[in-house]
Amino acid sequence: MIEVQRPGHVSVVIVGGTGDLAKKYLWQGFFQLYINQVSSGNTFSFYGGGLSPADKATPLLFEILKAVSCSKDVSQERCALLKDQFLRLSQYRQLKTLEDYQDLAEHIKKQLQQEGMTEAGRLFYLSVPAFAYADIADKINNSCRPASGAWLRVVLEKPFGHDFRSAQVLASQLGSSLKDEEMYRIDHYLGKQVVTKILPFRIENKRFLDPIWNKQHIERVEIVLKETLDVKGRIPFYDQYGVIRDVLQNHLTEVMTLLTMRLPVNLSSSEEVLQNKLHIFSSLLPLEKNQAVIGPVPSHTNICSSANKQSCLCVSAVLAHIDQAQYEDVPILLISGKMLDERVGYARILFKNDIFCLQNHNSIHCKPKQIVFYFGHGSLQYPAILVSKNLFKPVLTDSEWKEVTEHTDVSVLGLSLSDYYVQTPTEQREAYTELISHIFAGRKNSFISTENLLASWGLWTPLLSTLSSSFPRIYPGGADNGDLLDVRLKGKDIRFNSEVVIISPDQMGSTSAGGFQVMQGKFRSADMVSAWAEELVERLAADIEELAEAAVRESGVFHLALSGGSSPLALFHRLALHHFSFPWRNTHVWMVDERCVPLTELESNFYTLHNHLLQHVRIPYYNIHPMPVQLNHRLCVEEDGGAQLYETEISKWVNGSSFHFVLLGVGYDSHTASLFPGTKVKEFGESLVALTESPVKPHQRMSLTFSAINRAQRVALLVMGKGKHELITQLSRVKDDPEKWPVTGVKPTNGRLVWYMDYDALLG
Ligand code: BG6
Repeated sequence: MIEVQRPGHVSVVIVGGTGDLAKKYLWQGFFQLYINQVSSGNTFSFYGGGLSPADKATPLLFEILKAVSCSKDVSQERCALLKDQFLRLSQYRQLKTLEDYQDLAEHIKKQLQQEGMTEAGRLFYLSVPAFAYADIADKINNSCRPASGAWLRVVLEKPFGHDFRSAQVLASQLGSSLKDEEMYRIDHYLGKQVVTKILPFRIENKRFLDPIWNKQHIERVEIVLKETLDVKGRIPFYDQYGVIRDVLQNHLTEVMTLLTMRLPVNLSSSEEVLQNKLHIFSSLLPLEKNQAVIGPVPSHTNICSSANKQSCLCVSAVLAHIDQAQYEDVPILLISGKMLDERVGYARILFKNDIFCLQNHNSIHCKPKQIVFYFGHGSLQYPAILVSKNLFKPVLTDSEWKEVTEHTDVSVLGLSLSDYYVQTPTEQREAYTELISHIFAGRKNSFISTENLLASWGLWTPLLSTLSSSFPRIYPGGADNGDLLDVRLKGKDIRFNSEVVIISPDQMGSTSAGGFQVMQGKFRSADMVSAWAEELVERLAADIEELAEAAVRESGVFHLALSGGSSPLALFHRLALHHFSFPWRNTHVWMVDERCVPLTELESNFYTLHNHLLQHVRIPYYNIHPMPVQLNHRLCVEEDGGAQLYETEISKWVNGSSFHFVLLGVGYDSHTASLFPGTKVKEFGESLVALTESPVKPHQRMSLTFSAINRAQRVALLVMGKGKHELITQLSRVKDDPEKWPVTGVKPTNGRLVWYMDYDALLG
């Protein structure tokens, strides 16, 4: 409930009173409060507090105070007068030690006595880093509490912890000095006019909304904050926090709860609003790893030394679901990012439109049905609530809001402005100004209670820990690269729309991600697909399946030749675990190369292939073709003719000895298959299979030759890991020389070569 306040003297103390936030928003907000309250019977003193001594900081404070302004409805003379009074009521105080706080309390007490004033309350605004909160709260508790009958309010800014545990610790530290009702945790989004209006709007328009505010009608909910700024000036902060902690956990989550919570019977009951919010939190399904995509913004700022640094996580899209019959399976998207194409914030409820238009697609009933809570900026440039005209005409009972009827020629989320009923505040106010007036009025609804805070961290913390091992998408930032961040919903998962990124070859040499462009690209004149390892493997597996299906459709059979080594393991797992409709029954699996060891030994490529793939899929026994490295109880003896035997087998089964797909890797020394630097490849002539020598144990190998490889219809070269980066840089420069750089001998005569390279290999 809003407290009934007795009028009297109010002392406002901004700790951190000469800092950035104070300068930008807080003093202006308190000046506005002063203007609004000047004839209400309340009197005020304002203190800017800080660690610096008064002689240094006082001039600074007054510079800031001189810049405050009045709203348009206040005449110039009155404004000058009010400003003059405001300046006279303000002073700087050093607030460093407990004695400083005691002195302040003493000063307030004396002033009250001297002027015979009744005290209404004391408001401390802590505009300081969060690590200082507990200590300052303790000092306030010890020395600055007002006498009984007057209130104490202490305002705090986020971050309130960086996960559930740290938020809990901070809450309990603060709890030992302050009562819950004395703490005002700010989320400035709750002061944005459109956000404050969400619940009243839902109540005012209840009769229109009740029938459609449910899963039968809502297609999805999107809560979006896009920004054009980068995090340059805030790298230390972003290093620890990242966009999920900075924006999604608080601002966007709060908006989500306001949109989806049960409507309170009494809007001004903070207890009821809180309980309804907590109910939504408890109904939110846990956020799994596949319900989030993340991306860094590495290029211009060059800050992403490690992809998993939070500073790199500047873009994120998260898909949430509420486990309530009303919202079952309704996708709720929370999206935010820096360095995007435009600055805009909104929440959109998109409704299903079951009208199929055959002729006039421009008619309003064919268009998207949506309600947009538009926080500001973007194409519209002002805060507004927009209801598409094919839904309903919202009521307007609030005198602080007006209908916009003159429409400029702009389009908002796919509809032109004239397709909406538009409401906007009669007077635009800053979120902080709004919140300061709510603090003064004791309206706790607009602030984050401890329970609310912990419920939110409870939702986000598990996801944040899972994401710490995820691969963020490389995103160079800016409008040109916008579609790289487009997301797609797949059941309960969210994905980037383009699953992989193809990167220009021109940038191959540059190890800093600075300025590389994302586009269709080539590497050594062949096609290249590049992505983070996980996505790369997904893509490769999908490509193989697609080719397998096409080959089986065309010829009833798919011939696949696979390499050994560790790089393909992830691919084998992917194929075994995710490609249930792969046509294994019609697939023949061949070996690209083999070590001359018994097939039952760990070192055998076949053994690995069997363990990681073949035994997990339903492939007929007679479709599997291990290399005959062991004949006559001996390993790879020339006279036993193992290589010729395999060649004969290939010629017999594979049409024109042309495999449909050959998967190759490349070693640090640029060997591919078992063709090592120094191998006299020319001596193999037209042979398809040969015995070769490796510089490392086991030395003897059997391998497909370039003649066999280059007959293939598709050859994939899979390169993964930072360790390969140097080689890749060299390869981008050298000429074809298969005896020195064996991999350069891979040149399919009629087929196609594709390099699958992960970002670690590509960028180092
Ligand atoms: C702040 C975040 O809380 O909100 C910033 O720390 C973000 O990173 C800002 O830019 C967005 O607020 P607004 O009011 O500009 O949308």
